[in-house]
Amino acid sequence: MPRSARTHDVVLFGATSFVGQILTQYMVRRHGSDGDVSWAIAGRNGEKLAEVAANTGAAVDRIVVDADDAAGLAEMCAHTNCVISTVGPYALYGSKLVAAVAEAGIDYVDLTGEPHWMQRMIDRYQDRAVETGARIVHSCGFDSVPSDMGVWFVQREAQERFGEPCSSISMAVKAAKGGASGGTIASMMNMMEEASADPSLREILANPYALAETGDRSGVDQPNVTLPVYDDGHESWLAPFVMAATNTRVVFRTHSLLGHPWGDDFTYGEAMMTGDGWSGRAKAMATSAALASAMGAVAFGPIRSVMGKVLPEPGEGPSPEKQEAGFFDIRFHGTTASGDELTATVTGDRDPGYASTAKMLAEAATTLADSDAAGGFWTPATALGDAYIDALVEHSGLTFDIT
Ligand SMILES: NC(=O)c1ccc[n+]([C@@H]2O[C@H](COP(=O)([O-])OP(=O)(O)OC[C@H]3O[C@@H](n4cnc5c(N)ncnc54)[C@H](OP(=O)(O)O)[C@@H]3O)[C@@H](O)[C@H]2O)c1
Repeated sequence: MPRSARTHDVVLFGATSFVGQILTQYMVRRHGSDGDVSWAIAGRNGEKLAEVAANTGAAVDRIVVDADDAAGLAEMCAHTNCVISTVGPYALYGSKLVAAVAEAGIDYVDLTGEPHWMQRMIDRYQDRAVETGARIVHSCGFDSVPSDMGVWFVQREAQERFGEPCSSISMAVKAAKGGASGGTIASMMNMMEEASADPSLREILANPYALAETGDRSGVDQPNVTLPVYDDGHESWLAPFVMAATNTRVVFRTHSLLGHPWGDDFTYGEAMMTGDGWSGRAKAMATSAALASAMGAVAFGPIRSVMGKVLPEPGEGPSPEKQEAGFFDIRFHGTTASGDELTATVTGDRDPGYASTAKMLAEAATTLADSDAAGGFWTPATALGDAYIDALVEHSGLTFDIT
């Protein structure tokens, strides 16, 4: 069916999720209920959908469909140009939808931070997506937009200023304030469950090139901050960053899809800045120890099940006040092969994981509609490029600057 003949431009699948409700509010503010963009909300529970519509003022169509209902998903995809999905953990509930999207030849964006599932989807459906023209872009939230678009921005600037790209980039989170939702915790727990049941998954999760094109899944060793280390470029001590394992994989997929324009020796790492001097060192040590013990605890089945009972449940997350008071400030330090250096700052004006994420996700869908990318699995940078940076700055409260 040609794009213009479909009933909806966008269907928001998972509107009842914690982040889906914030996204629905944002869609109402950004597009209205009967503006130029025709959109609908979808989920498995009609009553909950009606409640979300009433709470957010979304006077739009409502579609009731379960993530397990392949025929229902195919029907939904037949009548829309783009599905935004916030139904997660994606490894549990996302695969049938990706199959339906690939078959229908439509656009799709999501918030997954689960590299093993993304690799599974790419390997299963890339060929079909190319045939049908389906454009699938995972990780359009805080995982991994600031990283992927930050690197894109740094490389664009390096090329313009120095005539060559950076051969190495280090990203460090200078400051961030927010909280976690039950859905995010459920996704992390599920990834740990799957990895402990299937050792081959641990290999996938450990490979920085796990999401690169098939046949391109190896390369030079990559920096991996697991212990406190002082970094001259950032002039700060660094500690491990929990989302590096997803974000770096997305950045290396971008590099692979682009055909290695930053060189075969390109390196990219992510960490958290803790400041300089003795206090920076002490904070780096404390952060590293806290993260190591949290990951150790989550990896241990019995502790994982106890943690599941005390952490936020699916549907719960940071309060509107916390979202409003949240922010992030991320630094990129790039160096070219000739030794030129560049520092960039990427910031967001709301809590990273929810209010900012919802805005990034909505703008990814809108920007994708105008992208000339062909069918296939893309990353935010390769599908959306400079137009997405413009949209993020104009609508999503992000900034991209050379410091
Ligand atoms: N990339 C990022 O930065 C980022 C940020 C935030 C969240 N996330 C991810 O986004 C996802 C959503 O997070 P969240 O906290 O909003 O999750 P949540 O509140 O737990 O919501 C989960 C959603 O999935 C729906 N669902 C579950 N099983 C379903 C099924 N069989 N059929 C249809 N719908 C089903 C739920 O529907 P009901 O309401 O009917 O139960 C709900 O809408 C998670 O995977 C999380 O990891 C990523």
